Amino acid sequence: MKKLIVSAIGCCALLVSCGPKSTAVTGPKYTSSEQLAQGKTIFENSCNKCHALPNPEKHDDEGWLKTLSRMAPKAKLNEEQHQMVYDYLISVNKK
Ligand code: HEC
Repeated sequence: MKKLIVSAIGCCALLVSCGPKSTAVTGPKYTSSEQLAQGKTIFENSCNKCHALPNPEKHDDEGWLKTLSRMAPKAKLNEEQHQMVYDYLISVNKK
């Protein structure tokens, strides 16, 4: 019985940490050109609805982490899309 409770807690903790509700992008993940290209497309299609498309060089990697966490929900990106846009932005923000 005790074992069951422990595994139930473990299971819930896992669900919470990996749940789909958050756009918890905490760092780079994708590096393949396919996903970066997809990130670019999403960025160009979703981030110019309320304001002009921002310049990727506006922020460094850390800055985009914060800004994109505010903007991804506005653009209604899911976590996967948020991640691809982030990885695209940090792949082009350096001169
Ligand atoms: C629903 C409208 C909306 C969408 C969609 C949207 N934004 Fe914004 N954005 C805003 C508003 C409003 C502001 C100004 C207020 C603020 O900074 O929160 C802003 C400000 C910004 C800024 C300037 C502030 C800063 O921290 O540099 C950047 C950069 C930005 N958005 C990037 C993006 C990106 C990237 C996307 C696509 C994922 C996006 N936005 C999609 C509404 C939106």
